[in-house]
Amino acid sequence: MPHAAWAELEAAARRDADARIQDQFSADPDRLARLTLDVAGLHIDLSKQSWTHAGLKAALDLARACDVEGRRAALFNGEAVNLTEGRAVLHPALRAPDGADFRALEEPVSAEVEAVRAEMKAYAEALRSGNETGASGRPFKTVLHIGIGGSDLGPRLIWDALRPLDPAIDLRFVANIDPRDMAEALIGLDPETTLVIVVSKSFTTQETLLNAQAAKAWLAAALPAEGMAKHFIGVTAAPEKATAFGCGRTFAFRDWVGGRYSLWSAVSLSCVIGLGWDAFQGFLDGAAALDRHFLEAPLERNAPVMLALAEIYNVDGLHRPARTIAPYAHDLRRLPAFLQQLEMESNGKQVRRDGAPVGRQTCPVIFGEPGANGQHAFFQQLHQGPQVVPVEFIIVSRTCEETPSTYLWSNALAQAQALMQGKTETQARAELIASGASEDEADRLAPHKAFPGNRPSTAILMERLTPQTLGALIALYEHKTFVEGVLWDINSFDQWGVELGKVLAKALLKDAAAGAPSADLDPSTADLLRRLTA
Ligand code: F6P
Repeated sequence: MPHAAWAELEAAARRDADARIQDQFSADPDRLARLTLDVAGLHIDLSKQSWTHAGLKAALDLARACDVEGRRAALFNGEAVNLTEGRAVLHPALRAPDGADFRALEEPVSAEVEAVRAEMKAYAEALRSGNETGASGRPFKTVLHIGIGGSDLGPRLIWDALRPLDPAIDLRFVANIDPRDMAEALIGLDPETTLVIVVSKSFTTQETLLNAQAAKAWLAAALPAEGMAKHFIGVTAAPEKATAFGCGRTFAFRDWVGGRYSLWSAVSLSCVIGLGWDAFQGFLDGAAALDRHFLEAPLERNAPVMLALAEIYNVDGLHRPARTIAPYAHDLRRLPAFLQQLEMESNGKQVRRDGAPVGRQTCPVIFGEPGANGQHAFFQQLHQGPQVVPVEFIIVSRTCEETPSTYLWSNALAQAQALMQGKTETQARAELIASGASEDEADRLAPHKAFPGNRPSTAILMERLTPQTLGALIALYEHKTFVEGVLWDINSFDQWGVELGKVLAKALLKDAAAGAPSADLDPSTADLLRRLTA
């Protein structure tokens, strides 16, 4: 832990706490140029963040002191950066162009990556052309994608972001263990024209296996036993388990692909089928361009590094433990949920890599809704609530071919402006008087209509949401998450925090089957269990 660099950052942030963001543009004429970046089709504007020039320098010094460059090299070199599981973390290998030479713990992996890509491409093309049909010879019309967490959120995001309005092969997703999810997904589907893809890295996840059982039974009720294999396939890092479960065909990936980083792998096979290979290749290419930028750009022009530093400045420097994601594009409506897993499962940690307490705030709480919907829900608090919540505006200049998105993006810009400039009570009072209010009325209402302002935001702009810009955007967030983990000195690639609940749920299932709580249950849980089993 570079204590001196952290102390410098905290001291700089204390000094910046009262500085007005808006004033920094005149105090530092190069601010806009210094804090805007153009990378892989994305324009990133960090100039409305709270840091002054001195604050930014302290943040960059911290990045250098934490050896971001050395840790980045360890990631790309396939070292065991996931040290609690002894695994390399190599999702960049999945999107690298053919001919790359990635190694996981020194084992070459790129040839295998290319082979799986070729398999996915051939299978998807056969399905899309109707050469590969269901058991009765009819072409597939729907893919039912079953998976949860990283085996669900990424493909769902890709599909929502890029799907044609009227796709030839439609995708349905089932994640929840609640049978309503499956029931809803199956509405209107014909087993003869439905392909079920079960996606699970471990192939042990309770929710996914239960849903897979249900889907298998649904298929089996309508199809001849010998035809099942064509309709029920698996994507997993444990192919032997998928085969034992009854999957007729399996697409594999390796343990060096983390669940929440797996959307570049066969985990997105459903999307390849729904969108076609070229779109998926574009998605990989966009991410690969961002990888190159992350590897090559100096820290002060490096987009993932700069986004991570802005976050650290807010969270640890200025004690702002939440962040809002506001994608101003209907097609990015799944981005907040995706980033919740990516960032909170990666960095929601309390110990350093050596097991000692981190001793500071780590990952902020992330929430969000697509703009403009969020404006009419929780933005009130962002503008006038006592706590400062930084906002990330993701703005697409043209969301539709037919209609310019001016209404959409002008709302995004206005929100960012309002958050930064605010409105004083004096201004609010003057406006009330100008609109005909009496002096008394103006005094009474002005405090309610004042905005503190000076609230930070980041803007990420793209002209269109294409496979390439989507790939670049997601890779940007992945590397940002990694850099934050480096600064906090945590392992961003394990997720032990989800294990305890899984174990306790299994014990409670036994109690539920027995119809009585076990003796060691706490009174509240025991009472709730009795009520639910009654
Ligand atoms: O929620 C915990 C988790 O382990 C995630 O990390 C993972 O993405 C998800 O479960 C699904 O796991 P699997 O792909 O093994 O079914």
